[in-house]
Amino acid sequence: MALRIFPRRCSKIAIRTVWRYKNGQSPMSTDDLFSFAADQGGPSGGFRDRISDLRRQISHHDRLYYEQAKSEISDREYDALYRELVDLERAHPDSITPDSPTQKVGGRPQGAFEQVRHLVPMQSLDNTYSAGEIGDFVERLQRLLPGEGIPFTIEPKVDGVAICLLYEKGRLVRAATRGDGTTGDEVTRNIRTIASIPQKLDVKLDGKAPDMLEVRGEIYLPKETFARINAERDEQGLPTFANPRNAAAGTLKQLDPNVVAERKLSAVFYGYGAVEPSSALPVRMEEFFGQLKAWGLPVNPRHWLARDAAEVMAAIEELGGIRREFPFETDGAVIKADLIAQHERLGSTSKAPRWAIAYKYEPEQARTRLLDITVQVGRSGVLTPVAELEPVFVAGSTVARATLHNEEEIARKDLRIGDWVLVEKAGDVIPAVVKVLTEERDGSERVFKMPTQCPVCGSVVNRVEGEVAVRCANPGCAAQARRRIEYFAGRTAMDIEGLGESMVTQLCDAGLVNDVADLYTLNAEQLLPLERMGEKSVSNLLAAIASSRNQPLWRLLTALGIPHVGVTVARTLAASFGTLDRLAAASEEELVAVEEIGPIMATAIHGWFRETAVNTLLGKLRSAGLNFGERDPRGSAPAAEGPLKGTTWVLTGTLSIPREEVAEMIRAKGGKVSGSVSAKTTYLLAGEEAGSKLEKAQKLGVTILDEKAFLGLIG
Ligand code: IVH
Repeated sequence: MALRIFPRRCSKIAIRTVWRYKNGQSPMSTDDLFSFAADQGGPSGGFRDRISDLRRQISHHDRLYYEQAKSEISDREYDALYRELVDLERAHPDSITPDSPTQKVGGRPQGAFEQVRHLVPMQSLDNTYSAGEIGDFVERLQRLLPGEGIPFTIEPKVDGVAICLLYEKGRLVRAATRGDGTTGDEVTRNIRTIASIPQKLDVKLDGKAPDMLEVRGEIYLPKETFARINAERDEQGLPTFANPRNAAAGTLKQLDPNVVAERKLSAVFYGYGAVEPSSALPVRMEEFFGQLKAWGLPVNPRHWLARDAAEVMAAIEELGGIRREFPFETDGAVIKADLIAQHERLGSTSKAPRWAIAYKYEPEQARTRLLDITVQVGRSGVLTPVAELEPVFVAGSTVARATLHNEEEIARKDLRIGDWVLVEKAGDVIPAVVKVLTEERDGSERVFKMPTQCPVCGSVVNRVEGEVAVRCANPGCAAQARRRIEYFAGRTAMDIEGLGESMVTQLCDAGLVNDVADLYTLNAEQLLPLERMGEKSVSNLLAAIASSRNQPLWRLLTALGIPHVGVTVARTLAASFGTLDRLAAASEEELVAVEEIGPIMATAIHGWFRETAVNTLLGKLRSAGLNFGERDPRGSAPAAEGPLKGTTWVLTGTLSIPREEVAEMIRAKGGKVSGSVSAKTTYLLAGEEAGSKLEKAQKLGVTILDEKAFLGLIG
């Protein structure tokens, strides 16, 4: 299986060993001897020390970035280190070793996934921050191809995770990350959960898919989703992601495709690798983008064409003005020679093609004052420190507050009240304090201490073992109640229009609601005196609340805020148990038997339904007339009669139709759908990449159908 290469590891070991040797501790390998000799070689040794130091730092950051999807420094700081190393190596070419980070692409592939070799290596791009260097790039190409016109395309540089898809005769057979450029992680199962990536190319236009096609692109986490996930992670006391790129990389590394599916990744494709027959590639990149789109692959929302450096710069500027409107984070523009035939003739260096370059925009940061640190209480009681800032304009809007996540984060940044700080927008959306300007301190700054009591209800706060968060221990805390109501009404939950943060605050402050069930007791007389509430808005709000009684069970399950239950798990639970009562009565064993539900989740869900306060609340909600599953619009109970009467089905693997719909088809024909394979199972409907359930069904001799057979069976 695993095809492994360790170039980066070698370079790190070499550098580290030399350092140790100098400290008289460790013997050396041949590699080390080479570096050691080089280290000792120069008359001054100064630049060589610096080169070693830079290589060590860069390798360290590469490893964090590529293997753990983390970063300790900004892209700009990284680029500066990298630039310095390139310049030093250029000035002292004899110092270049094959294992220098400047000679390699990306990080060493990870161990958890199968390793696959790209048919054509995935290279990186040269970077620049200056218009002058764009001019140099254009001139260089003109020098290399004298007398030829060199048209260019300009497109957004998507800040995501590079991916290579392999389609054989139009079918997606494999997806791999870049890894070290030659070999990457095989992440096909995870990629198949991304709705916008076609399993089959659409060939309506050209009749036939290429025999083999490697397409390259970027997997990204939409900025909005990034903001939501971080808010949820803060709420759960989990560490947040620094930016959407890290979140996407972390997600792709998940071993469980269900987690990947829940995160809702997206993709953009912009390049090609191996293509057979080569005639399947058009003449120009511009046409290739159109071709990708026709095949059904998502492409960049905009691109530009340019004939010279001035037009390239004009496009870069235009893109700079609109880049924040894209759903992904864009930190730059990619400039490519438009004629694909010129790509081959221009070739590439060991690291990057000569026919393309990336222009990076200056990251937008602003200086401001940290006036105070306040503490917010979340839905599950987590205390979150919030920076109260002197309002400042950055990346398109005014920022006055920024979450500081938790106490450790404040300590790590050494933030003190009164500090001058740099702020930016993480992923273009979330205000973040990135750095303290310690040189501005005058001694009046104050160290922040997390309160030992809840700032809202005064109860003691607990630090949960293994979590960075502290929580208010009082489930009756008014702040928690307020957040729970906001969450209940939110878009992913009961979706009650008009019941946003400020409305909930008003309702709570007026003492009209204390828990979510109280929403269903509200009447017009109570609402009319509230701020900005006329007859019309009152009747709209009451109607929205009333109709939420009929929301499907999965929405109610999401809205209740059961620990570990997000939208995806809620849907699974609703599909497996059908009604809230059956779910509430389920044993831990029955819960674990459901695919996607692990033992920790099962214990948490089981325990939640056994809390007194929960049962009181559920009782109130039942009296308020909420749909506990019995009224699910598409009926979770099997039809009384039908050709599938008496059969029990289990669904597994990736199906081209959403699972819920398939389950409905089965129930509509009288069949029962169950979450786990047992002796009672009649049929297993196995999609692609079916796993343990398929094995179990085979052992038990259950009839296994694929999707086509299933569709045939139910007509
Ligand atoms: S073209 C041979 N186009 O940025 C490499 N790359 O920093 C051709 N990227 O390795 C890459 N958006 O992973 C290209 N529109 C775009 C891109 C893009 C993002 C990534 C890609 C590349 C990296 C270089």
